[in-house]
Amino acid sequence: MKILAIDTSCDETAAAVTEGLNVLSNIVWSQASAHAKFGGVMPSLAKRMHEERIDWVVEKALTASRQSLSNDIDAIAVTVGPGLSIALGVGIDKAKELSIKYKKPIIGINHIEGHLLSSFANSNMDPKKLRYPVLGLVVSGGNTLLLKINQIGSYETLAETTDDALGEALDKAARMLGLGYPGGPVLEKMAKHGDKKKYKLPVPIVGQEKRQIFTYSGLKTAMMREIGKAKRSDGTLSRQSICDLSYTFQDVAFKHIERVLDFILNKYSFSHSNMLVGGGVSANVEIRKRLRKLAYKHSVNICFPKTKKLYGDNAAMIGVAANFKAIEGNFDNVSTIDRKPGAKLSD
Ligand code: KG4
Repeated sequence: MKILAIDTSCDETAAAVTEGLNVLSNIVWSQASAHAKFGGVMPSLAKRMHEERIDWVVEKALTASRQSLSNDIDAIAVTVGPGLSIALGVGIDKAKELSIKYKKPIIGINHIEGHLLSSFANSNMDPKKLRYPVLGLVVSGGNTLLLKINQIGSYETLAETTDDALGEALDKAARMLGLGYPGGPVLEKMAKHGDKKKYKLPVPIVGQEKRQIFTYSGLKTAMMREIGKAKRSDGTLSRQSICDLSYTFQDVAFKHIERVLDFILNKYSFSHSNMLVGGGVSANVEIRKRLRKLAYKHSVNICFPKTKKLYGDNAAMIGVAANFKAIEGNFDNVSTIDRKPGAKLSD
């Protein structure tokens, strides 16, 4: 099945063409620099920029894949949620227009499912042959979620965030340090030069991992206090203090994930099974190293997306997720498909 996929859930305008699990093209137009001066995503600006770029990314995805919409494409997939409502609407309207014009079936996809299944893209894994249940971890700007995958399409939440997502927490910490948006990648760079022992921050819910939640609000408050103490008499932070605080925040934020994950891996048996990891934060080298170590300890085979572009928001992951629905003939109705900004992946 060849699928034209579209994602406009946040601040990336993305289109891709996939065939099964193979990515034929994956075009991402990032708006991040336009939102940077606001310190986060401005929904109205995101909508306008999606409208300006949507035709361009769709055209480019088709040209780069050398596929023609009328002759080669079997279905059109689009992210319906979760995400910014007015941003999602741009992609959905485009997908509906193309579905009607070219008489192609339409498939609505949950953005988190896209991240969850992104490690299948361009891989030689056979999803049918995995030993289920499989563990899923999504760490992105909007979600921090551990899931039990009973089979593709059947998901149970094992732990989720009660406040900020991991990426959101890293972005906020970076903003407190004056590092700009998106903060995760800059924080990662600064952390490499940080003194590991200079600052101490509390690991969230330490010793209470059995609550099976993620939470970053307390850590953010503690970070704010530590920044206040580290400031020089002129109210600024030295470059070294920024590096040291970046290291400590990132370290503690990741330790929280590791501790909850370790609890889950002890409680439920996933040994000799797989763990699929996806989402923007998994582009971070340090978190990948720590997750690999933990997976090894529990005899779990860990899988990450194959290329950098597949970590962050992209449409190839939407095409890959849609493939599972398409082969079962599970299509949506073009007249009723609609945005679901607060969509959940499991009940
Ligand atoms: O998956 P994504 O592109 O968007 C959502 O679906 O939310 O994730 C974006 C998040 C941002 O919070 C960004 O700061 C974070 O991923 N991120 C990183 C890195 N690259 C992106 N966080 C830590 N280290 C990175 N290298």
